[in-house]
Amino acid sequence: MTRMIDGKAVAAEVTARVAEDVRILTAAGQRPPGLAVVIVGDDPASHAYVSAKGRMAKQCGFHSVQHTLPAGTTEDDLLQLIEILNADPEIDGILVQLPLPKPLDSDRVIQAISPDKDVDGLHVVNAGKLATGDLTTGLLPCTPAGAMELVSGIHGRDLSGLHAVVIGRSNLFGKPMGQLLLAANATVTMAHSRSKDLPSICTLADILVVAVGRAQMVKADWVKPGATVIDVGINRVDTPERGSGQSRLVGDVDYAGAVDVAGAITPVPGGVGPMTIAMLMANSLKARSLRQTLHFN
Ligand code: GUN
Repeated sequence: MTRMIDGKAVAAEVTARVAEDVRILTAAGQRPPGLAVVIVGDDPASHAYVSAKGRMAKQCGFHSVQHTLPAGTTEDDLLQLIEILNADPEIDGILVQLPLPKPLDSDRVIQAISPDKDVDGLHVVNAGKLATGDLTTGLLPCTPAGAMELVSGIHGRDLSGLHAVVIGRSNLFGKPMGQLLLAANATVTMAHSRSKDLPSICTLADILVVAVGRAQMVKADWVKPGATVIDVGINRVDTPERGSGQSRLVGDVDYAGAVDVAGAITPVPGGVGPMTIAMLMANSLKARSLRQTLHFN
């Protein structure tokens, strides 16, 4: 019997724990974590994600602020805002929603965030800590950390003897995911668009993590019977059979086929997606306590 991994339920447990910790902090007269989310331009999907992050931050009892900047914002203006947020003692976490509109250089902007406020875990200091096996003193990227929570729910924290295959090698997801799996003692294969014979690589996986951005690319016969499948894709596909202009969200895995082969599988939506926001809340709380340890504020 395949287990459908309920990311929504796991995410709700994570945010409930964060909210409880914030309640204890504020009841003791301490300030709550402060999260600043910066959005540039008017991409509707990005605005929807940012609103959801702000709503969840409030639900967790955070000091939550949003900076909405017009599409024509210059890099200097954006960098100036980052400097102000870096220096703001009430702000523990800064998230700049990606992608940034052209011609803004997202890497330059992300690297300007103070590493101890980088709740996206994308600053080279945090990426470097993860790469060198330090999972405690830095901040981890939210989506891989969330995917890892779901893997732990099935296999526990020690993945010794298990073969994990990650398809996708982005800095935002694939690379940190591979490193988290490796740190948990899995044997890790990093596959990507230039890999030869992806289906046979995938059939080796006890844990198959897919982040390619191609709707339903991974088919049932790529999945080893009993494997855990973590689908990180969110793709909107047209569904003319539901009426003109209708669409639905699907993952990078052909769920309907893979569900009969996998041992456990994340649905889309309702799998990895909700975990990203939950881990952002957990990261902001962690940033709050790391900064308190560092600066006693
Ligand atoms: N856009 C899509 N995913 C993410 C994410 O995890 N962080 C940021 N900042 N932007 C995103």
